[in-house]
Amino acid sequence: MSPQPQSTEAPAAASRPTILPVQFYEDRLSVSASARKPSPLWELFSAESNPGLLSLLAGKPHPDTFPFEYIHLGVRSPGAAGEQVTKELTIKDEELHVAMQYGMAPGEKELRDWLTTLTERVHSRGLNEGWRVSIGAGSQDLLYKAFNALLNPGDTVIVEGPTYPGATPIMTALGCKYVSIDVDNDGIIASDLEKVLDNWDSSKPKPKVVYTIPFGSNPAGVTASYERRVKMLKLAKKHDFIILEDDPYYFLYYGDRPRPPSYFSLEGKILGEVGRVLRFDSFSKVMAAGLRLGWLTGPDRLLGAIEAHSMINVVQASSISQILAIKVLKEWGIDGFLKHVQNAANFYKRRRDVMAAALDRHMKGIAEWTQPDAAMFFWIKLKLPASVDLQNVEIDGDSTTFIRSKAIDRGVLVLPGATSFVDGRQTARVRVSFSLLSDEATEEAIKRLATVLTEEIHS
Ligand SMILES: Cc1ncc(COP(=O)(O)O)c(C=O)c1O
Repeated sequence: MSPQPQSTEAPAAASRPTILPVQFYEDRLSVSASARKPSPLWELFSAESNPGLLSLLAGKPHPDTFPFEYIHLGVRSPGAAGEQVTKELTIKDEELHVAMQYGMAPGEKELRDWLTTLTERVHSRGLNEGWRVSIGAGSQDLLYKAFNALLNPGDTVIVEGPTYPGATPIMTALGCKYVSIDVDNDGIIASDLEKVLDNWDSSKPKPKVVYTIPFGSNPAGVTASYERRVKMLKLAKKHDFIILEDDPYYFLYYGDRPRPPSYFSLEGKILGEVGRVLRFDSFSKVMAAGLRLGWLTGPDRLLGAIEAHSMINVVQASSISQILAIKVLKEWGIDGFLKHVQNAANFYKRRRDVMAAALDRHMKGIAEWTQPDAAMFFWIKLKLPASVDLQNVEIDGDSTTFIRSKAIDRGVLVLPGATSFVDGRQTARVRVSFSLLSDEATEEAIKRLATVLTEEIHS
């Protein structure tokens, strides 16, 4: 089993990149993030690790009163020849106490240290380049807090069209406006964004933030090419925005093209400056979604604003989840983790091929699609009847009505594409996930979709 797919190496930086100053972030924090001070209680907890200090500070419960004696785990580990080997691990004593206790908002140090080493290796960023990591209760939690940290009501955000429908309700509730930039097979169309920003009405504040999903984007399934990433980074500097790199599918890349480097990896090399990229990773797609663990990588001031939010909100990501994760990660080491995620990527590649074959068999002529090269979605355009509006402009078919009123009754459910566009447009697109169903169930589901779609087209 090879480790991660081959990277398109980012060019080496000529010298150490410039780190953006703290004031850069102070100027961009939302009103609420600027007003939110770290909780005085949780802030003092950090002093508990001072050598020799006797702490009477906390209302931490005594572990002797807890009912748990140990946690015994059976863990599937990636073996040498690609096979899975089950290992028995036990969490007890001090480890168990940590798992059962309150922790700090940034997350368990051991897990942060492990993720820091992973980041240095995978994204080739030196520790002296103005970044650290922070753990949250899944990427969703971290996205929620990041949008809250950066956006005020009325701010404009750049999003992809289509974009992750789990992110936009956060920004909509914050009172943000959107500019949606289409994606094609190479990811977000940077030249479209350039046109928008070059012609920006100077009486209005420019967008501070671009939200992008660069690997196997949910829902479009596309991976941004190296050239697009470079162009986007140059635009970030020219038009002074921050890139929110939401990358839960980073490790599930199985494309034939070399893996493009992350924005986080590239920024210093391309711009000679670092601090414009805030990166979101998730354990959900490669360890367990129920752990509810994700991590942020980026500049200290932004992470601090998000941690201050956590301190008065969930306090921290679950200690039990963090100890489970670190127990497994330490057992595997970085190489073992990379083998494990490669196995997961191979698994989804095979499932993609099963669905591609089913689509070829049943949907040719009644739908259009391209093959994803990461993650778990096909983004399919159904040939639903188009219509025209009052200005005689053609409007795409309506997959929402089709799914809700026809497909569900015929025993098949996919996500209507309209959920993924911020402009409320009607679309014939649907997102079809190939992550869970067996080969036989995939075949049957696509057959059902094709049957009901054929009926609709001929009705
Ligand atoms: C693009 C994207 N971002 C964020 C998330 C949320 O991930 P998590 O489970 O880590 O909260 C998802 C989940 O599907 C996703 O697809």
